[in-house]
Amino acid sequence: MNTVKTQVAIIGAGPAGLLLSQILHLEGIESIVLETRSREAIEATIRAGVLEQGTVDLMNQLGVGERMQREGFVHTGTILRFDGRDRRIDFPELTGGKAVMVYAQHEVIKDLVAARLGAGADIRFEVKDVSVNDTDTASPKVRFRSKDDELHEITADFIAGCDGTQGVCRPSIPAGVLKGFERLYPFGWLGILCKAPPSSDELIYALHERGFALVSTRSPDIQRMYLQCEPTDKIENWSDDRIWAEFRARLATRDGWAPKEGEIFSKTVVGMRSFVTEPMQHGRLFLAGDAAHVVPPTGAKGLNLAAADVRVLSRAIVEFYRKGRTDLLDGYTATALRRIWKAQRFSWWMTSMLHRFPGADDFQHRVQIAELDYVTGSRAGSTALAENYVGLPFDQLEP
Ligand code: FAD
Ligand code: DHB
Repeated sequence: MNTVKTQVAIIGAGPAGLLLSQILHLEGIESIVLETRSREAIEATIRAGVLEQGTVDLMNQLGVGERMQREGFVHTGTILRFDGRDRRIDFPELTGGKAVMVYAQHEVIKDLVAARLGAGADIRFEVKDVSVNDTDTASPKVRFRSKDDELHEITADFIAGCDGTQGVCRPSIPAGVLKGFERLYPFGWLGILCKAPPSSDELIYALHERGFALVSTRSPDIQRMYLQCEPTDKIENWSDDRIWAEFRARLATRDGWAPKEGEIFSKTVVGMRSFVTEPMQHGRLFLAGDAAHVVPPTGAKGLNLAAADVRVLSRAIVEFYRKGRTDLLDGYTATALRRIWKAQRFSWWMTSMLHRFPGADDFQHRVQIAELDYVTGSRAGSTALAENYVGLPFDQLEP
């Protein structure tokens, strides 16, 4: 068996794991990142697209924001479309100058991997049989097999479980320690990528009797769009013709708006759930990102929460090495959960306000329209939406 020591063993090279490794590196703290998939696979997985102001600032501070600044799109507002009309939420006006950046998650991953490998980081791709051990001691261990089947053991001071919803870290915590809080939604999203010019300068979140639709973007030639669908829908059920017919119907306005159509080259169905595990730590193992919580995508919070978690966790780790403090590590769960539950509330609220629920009647639909009309028509309502969408302030880094 090959054995090696490091300060922080990071499981998972998603946004949480890679951001944590980059922050620690800049603070002079060593880490090893383990990832079950290949570099090509993680750099090609299509997921989220909206970065909060705080995530943008973090990318810039970490020296990985250069391409994002060049190729990403700053959005200073978003459109809510309901009852065939548009209402705009102006972010800077309502939040004291903040905005969001539309820049795809896999581009963030590419930038982080390039920066980490460029600085000589130890990232092991395509590892197998990862297990975490001795997490309730001062020398937790991670065992795994490398791509060529050799057995390895890492001894670390800390293990960061950044391995997403299907990872091994959360299940490794003994039964009875964790409590899960979950909400399942009776619908999913069909996401597409198509070759077309942008249909809109800003994202459009649309409520329609046929279901939710979302217009987003990726580049001047590639657009990202989503449709509410059945939670277990099959892509085979969705021909290109059916997809465009639904977009045209759900996005129709009184003045004849229509999306710009083009060749669809990617279709995926994602389920929707809200999930939080408490606590997010056990001994020297700390969970961050989707390993600890999942949000429905309507508020665009998943990636941003992963970034927020590692800000809190990295500060606790840095203070441990610099000053021997353990209080921030002990308080990691409490600090992170305050932001997580607010993002859960926002994502649940946006999801409830904008989707058609099975069995919902016209009364329900009219109440949703009234809520959207109120939220977009009142400065207090619009401000609440804008503040949450651009991301709540990062002033809570301590319990
Ligand atoms: P992940 O990105 O899941 O990264 C975890 C990494 O760990 C993965 O690379 C995985 O391969 C690796 N891994 C897993 N198990 C192991 C193991 N045993 N050992 C080592 N490595 C392991 N959010 C939005 O805001 N908007 C969206 O539109 C949106 N769309 C999404 C679509 C899909 C299909 C999914 C799954 C998620 C989507 N999300 C979206 C959520 C967002 O992408 C996640 O919140 C974000 O990726 C969380 O980052 P993470 O680093 O915590 O986890
Ligand atoms: C995108 C995803 C979201 O979940 C969202 O709310 C807005 C945009 C996107 O992938 O572009």
